Amino acid sequence: MKKEFSINLLDLVLSLATAIDLVSTVVADHHKRVAYIALSLGEELGLSHEELENLVLAGSLHDIGALSLKERIDTLEFELANSKNHAELGYRFLRQFPLLEGVADIVRYHHVYWEDGKGAKVDGSDVPAASHLIHLADRISVSIDPRRHVLIQAQDIYQKIRENAGRMFVPEYVEAFEKLSAREYFWMDAASPSIELALRRRIKSDAAKLSLEEMSNLSQVFTRIVDFKSTFTSTHSSGVAATAEALARIMGFSDIECSYMNIAGHLHDLGKLAVPAEILEKPSALSEEEFSVIRGHTFYTRQVLESMGDLGVITEWATAHHERLNGSGYPGHEKHEDLSAGARIISVADVFTALTENRPYRKGMGKDEALEVLQEMADTSALDSSVVSQLRQNFDEINDARIAAQKVAAKEYDEMVKSLNLS
Ligand SMILES: [Fe+2]
Ligand SMILES: [Fe+2]
Ligand SMILES: [Fe+2]
Repeated sequence: MKKEFSINLLDLVLSLATAIDLVSTVVADHHKRVAYIALSLGEELGLSHEELENLVLAGSLHDIGALSLKERIDTLEFELANSKNHAELGYRFLRQFPLLEGVADIVRYHHVYWEDGKGAKVDGSDVPAASHLIHLADRISVSIDPRRHVLIQAQDIYQKIRENAGRMFVPEYVEAFEKLSAREYFWMDAASPSIELALRRRIKSDAAKLSLEEMSNLSQVFTRIVDFKSTFTSTHSSGVAATAEALARIMGFSDIECSYMNIAGHLHDLGKLAVPAEILEKPSALSEEEFSVIRGHTFYTRQVLESMGDLGVITEWATAHHERLNGSGYPGHEKHEDLSAGARIISVADVFTALTENRPYRKGMGKDEALEVLQEMADTSALDSSVVSQLRQNFDEINDARIAAQKVAAKEYDEMVKSLNLS
């Protein structure tokens, strides 16, 4: 197993953007569209390759702090009532990963109005020029009505932007937009369903080398973005990571395998980015369609992880957490012989953590009740009985590790809720 990962940031960010925009057809491709428009504006303004790359990364992630579907849809209004929370939260998520620090600053201020130059600063801090470019690109993007042909709308959109030059937007950027707007291919690409191809034709990025520690750090950033979508799941992946790692250690996995397991635990529900928070939080029974949307999360976990580069067994372990030995799991309906020891461990860790957590429809279970459910699942060959019996025999050690990890996550979640005044 390797201690270094080669990660292509652009591939990673574009697949995250795909997942985030799957929460609703209303926001389909929004992030990639903003990235494409910002890139086009940046090229028109003669920005450097590095600046263009940051614009694409920031455009692809700018609304990552809008956690609920309602918040996402609210951002489609041309003038938002409250834009600060999602921009600030996006900044807080992204700044924790060193490779995305510059992008985090851009995201933080992507709704700041220019106000004839006053918008160059907010509370004494400089607003990056790129934030103003993303703001403009974003407002152009939300002005495109997907139900009508884009070329019929181009002139009206340009007029609306022009009217707000100086107040909302940097006048020089609006001039760059004027030039773009005169070209039909700009509009055709911007509205195209294959916008990712248009983006990829125009920008390339190199792979970055991440150490095991940096990879672990990245996995924790993702955990927060996913888990903080709902109070009920706010500590889930942290609990799964700690439980799975403790189980792996007890079952004789090497140090590096244990680190891999911890990372897989942090990443296992990454695909929930594509699931609206409203479904995750629904207090009543899910419809068949809603349940299908939830099941889809393992598919998107795999898709995002595969796009990051070769993560070795991490991808396999993370993706297999809903598989069951008797074939009743998903997404592969794999069986005994197909499921590795790592996959069996993470499945038990996921069920155990879920059982002990509060959910919209029930309170978290205590030791005896949780072990009873796990035993039933082992008896019906859903879960691996040797993993379940290790959990029973080493219950306190494993459970303490889970509780400690979930406490840390809960504290961070509370701080976030307080500081952003979210409810
Ligand atoms: Fe936004
Ligand atoms: Fe947006
Ligand atoms: Fe899951």
